[in-house]
Amino acid sequence: MLAIGCDHGGFNLKPVIIKYLEDHNIAYKDFGTFSSESCDYPDYALKVAEAVASGECEKGILICGTGIGVSIAANKVKGIRAALCGDVFSAKATRAHNNANILTLGERVTGPGLALEIVDAFLNTNFDGGRHAVRVNKITEIENKYFK
Ligand code: RB5
Repeated sequence: MLAIGCDHGGFNLKPVIIKYLEDHNIAYKDFGTFSSESCDYPDYALKVAEAVASGECEKGILICGTGIGVSIAANKVKGIRAALCGDVFSAKATRAHNNANILTLGERVTGPGLALEIVDAFLNTNFDGGRHAVRVNKITEIENKYFK
């Protein structure tokens, strides 16, 4: 199951990604927002991040205007490695090297065609493990030191 969410700044890109998910038979849960009315991106970042951190969803996608706000907010949840990607190379690398579990996108930055290529790369690249697992474990150690 994939968690997806956005604020009003990502409201037009979300259905484009949902169509990709449906076309590829990927199960998803839509955490909103469900209208173009102005709202607060941390609210939706929290919903998606909690769904991923709890194990309810395996991965997540968050969209706001820049992708930055939802990334900052989601990364405050223990166990979340949210990566803002604006290119395909980064989307592959953040899965292979960082084992990122949330992709964030900026609707005002990244066009829909590129966004779908980024989503495809993110969802179809596995974590490499090995030396990268050692490094990701060090991120977890930082979490354990500073999170309650
Ligand atoms: C909303 O105007 C905008 O600030 C938000 O979508 C996002 O870009 C924040 O980082």
